[in-house]
Amino acid sequence: MSNPATTLDGIGGYLPERIVSNQELATRVDTSDEWIRERTGITQRHIAAPHETAAFMGEQAARRALDAAGIEAGSVDAIIVATSTPDQGFPATAVTIQSALGITAGFAFDISAACSGFVYAASIADAMIRAGQCRTALVIGTEVYSRILNWQDRGTCVLFGDGAGAAVLRANTADAPRGIISTHIHADGRFGDILYIDGATGQTGKPQHLVMNGREVFRHAVPKLAGAVDEALKANGLGHADIDWLVPHQANRRIIDAMGKRLNLQPEQVVVTVDRHANTSAASIPLALDDAMRDGRIKPGHLILIEALGGGLTWGSALIRM
Ligand code: COA
Repeated sequence: MSNPATTLDGIGGYLPERIVSNQELATRVDTSDEWIRERTGITQRHIAAPHETAAFMGEQAARRALDAAGIEAGSVDAIIVATSTPDQGFPATAVTIQSALGITAGFAFDISAACSGFVYAASIADAMIRAGQCRTALVIGTEVYSRILNWQDRGTCVLFGDGAGAAVLRANTADAPRGIISTHIHADGRFGDILYIDGATGQTGKPQHLVMNGREVFRHAVPKLAGAVDEALKANGLGHADIDWLVPHQANRRIIDAMGKRLNLQPEQVVVTVDRHANTSAASIPLALDDAMRDGRIKPGHLILIEALGGGLTWGSALIRM
C-alpha cells in the first residue's frame, strides 16, 4: 500500500465575543483609527475575557473543526497546538485540550513558532501522518496576545487580537488527488531580536511582553515569504495561474497585498481577515480558512497556498488541494 496523503477534512474557528474597535482603542492609547487603518488595514480585533484562555478557545475551534469533518473526537490520535501564549508552561495546551475533548488515545504536544505556528504544525502533522505515526490529527493555532501585549506601546498593541483556529488532518489512502501537496518551513535565529516575547517562566520576575521592531520585520517579510511561495510552486512544477486562493498569515494588509500582486492573483483570490481579526498569530491562517470555507469561496478541488512569517524569524508555506 502506498503512503497515505494528508487531507484537510474540516476547519473550525473561535473568536472571543468582545470586539474592540480602533476608535475604542484610541480612547486608551495615543493612536487613531486612521493611523491604524492606513498602515495595517486593521479596523477591529477580538479580545479574550478571563475564561477565554488558549486551551478554552482551542477546544471550541477543535469542536467546530470536528463537526465540519463529521467525525467524533474519539477518532483523533494526535493533537498539535501552535501557540506563543499557552495556558501553562506545562502540561502543554494540547494536553489540556485533549482532556477537555475526552480523548485518551494518541499523543498531544505544543510547538512554538510564533506567527508561523500553523504552517509548522501542519508540516509536522503531515510528516507524522505520512510516516504512519497517527491517522487523524487536530492541528490548532490558539493565541491570547492581549495578555502579552505592552498596552503602553502603541507600536505593537494596536496590531494584535485573540482567537483560535483548528484543522482536522487525516490519512487518506484513496486515490483522490487532494490533500497537503508539500510544506516548506524555515528559520533564521539571527533575527530573533526583531520580534520576541521579553521574559518567560524560565526567567523569574521578568514581565512577559511582546517587543517588535516593526520596520525590520516588514523589511524581511515580503522577500522571505516570496522565497517560500516560489519554493512551494517550483517543488511541484506549478505556476501562479494554478493557484485558486492565497490564504496568508494576517499580519498586515500591505504585506498581504504585496504577496497577492507578486503571485499575479486577483485581489478577490486573496483571503483577508486582518481587517476584522487583526493579527492572531498562529490562529490567523486557520481562522482565514474557516472564513473562506464557511462562506463557500473555497471549494473542493481548489488549490490553496498558505504562507506565514513570524518571530524567530520563522517562515514557511504549504500547498493544499481541497
Ligand atoms: N498610532 C499612531 N502613531 C504611531 C503608532 C500608532 N499606533 N505606532 C507608531 N506610531 C508612530 C511612531 O511613533 C512614529 O512616529 P515618529 O515618526 O514621530 O517617531 C511613526 O508613527 C512611524 O512609526 P514607524 O514604526 O516607523 O511606522 P511604520 O510606518 O513602520 O508602521 C508598522 C509601523 C508596525 C505598522 C509597520 O512597521 C509594520 O507593519 N511592520 C510589520 C509588522 C508585522 O507585520 N508584525 C507581525 C509579523 S508576524
